[in-house]
Amino acid sequence: MKILGIETSCDETAASVVEDGKILLSNVIASSVDLHAAYGGVVPEIAARSHLESILPVIDEAVKEVGWDNIDAIAVIQGPGLSGSLIIGVMTARTLAIAKQKPLYAIDHVHAHVYAAFLTEKANSLTLKAYSLPKEQPRFPLLALIISGGHTQLVFFRDHFKYTVLGQTVDDAVGEAFDKVAKILGLPYPGGPAIAKVAERGNPKAIKLPKAKFDVRKFDVRSNVRGLTSHTKGDYRFSFSGLKTAVLRASQAIAGKDFTLPSHELAGLLSGSQKDDIAASFQRTALETLITPVKIAVEEFKPTDIVVAGGVAANSELRRLLSESFENRVIYTDMKLCTDNAAMIAVLGFYKASLGQPAADPYSLEIDPNLQM
Ligand code: KG4
Ligand code: ZN
Repeated sequence: MKILGIETSCDETAASVVEDGKILLSNVIASSVDLHAAYGGVVPEIAARSHLESILPVIDEAVKEVGWDNIDAIAVIQGPGLSGSLIIGVMTARTLAIAKQKPLYAIDHVHAHVYAAFLTEKANSLTLKAYSLPKEQPRFPLLALIISGGHTQLVFFRDHFKYTVLGQTVDDAVGEAFDKVAKILGLPYPGGPAIAKVAERGNPKAIKLPKAKFDVRKFDVRSNVRGLTSHTKGDYRFSFSGLKTAVLRASQAIAGKDFTLPSHELAGLLSGSQKDDIAASFQRTALETLITPVKIAVEEFKPTDIVVAGGVAANSELRRLLSESFENRVIYTDMKLCTDNAAMIAVLGFYKASLGQPAADPYSLEIDPNLQM
């Protein structure tokens, strides 16, 4: 079964064809990130206009090799995301589903991030040559840490579509914290890769920063998991906004200024090595803050595998810390499939189609910018 996936939740216009939920046949991504960089973050109107310009060429490119006749279904992002961006993907997918007479599946972006890890094979093409994929698919029960610019959540999966959200961030997402700290340090957008790069030169112990700690009550999610009544929100919590403020205050102190200094003037007062140390200390603290709840959940739920998904999973220091911290198999995929892509949408679409989940009505499917797992 070959599924065409379409993703337009934020600033990436993406289309991909995946076979049987595991073989990557094409993966095309057009990003408007360069247009947003000047503003230090995604500008929704610019993103929407870029999607409009890119979506048909991106889909054509993704389907080129396989051919429309061989596509069995279309899977499209429904949410969460920016309304103006989502609407371009959903309206395009609805139109194509009607015109090409293909079933249509509506996909949750956050849920789909986990499914990038199910891709284990790829077509023998020049563009896919550089992709390194996990050798085996994740095994259930699995614990998924989903970390991106918009989300930080921990989800326990008994099986496909039988999951419990154990908890999420109470304020900023971890990727958002990377982006905001990068802004403080005058590093380019998106901040994650920029912080990771300068952090390699810095001392992670140079600055002591606070770690958000929460008590995890042994809540009744366990019985929910056993009974397979999914979708209960648990109390595994994350928090990153205090850390971001602590980085701002520490940076002001290092620059010999107080909180009255406008944060956009700060970067100019810090030396290169001071920035490296701040970035390294922030990164280490943020990553340790992420790992602590995962350790507690691993003890409580005893998953076979751990999947780390979303843009922040591209962080190599995180990968190093995780391999040190767990005996479980920790699965992450190629960097290009950690950040937003349509292959993950197609994989989840395959499981929806093959496990009898309902298809969407192409005449009425609406976007859901606040969709939650
Ligand atoms: O999954 P994604 O592409 O988009 C969302 O769904 O949000 O994640 C983007 C986020 C951004 O906040 C970006 O700074 C972060 O992932 N990111 C990283 C790295 N690469 C991307 N964070 C830390 N280290 C990285 N290497
Ligand atoms: Zn994402």
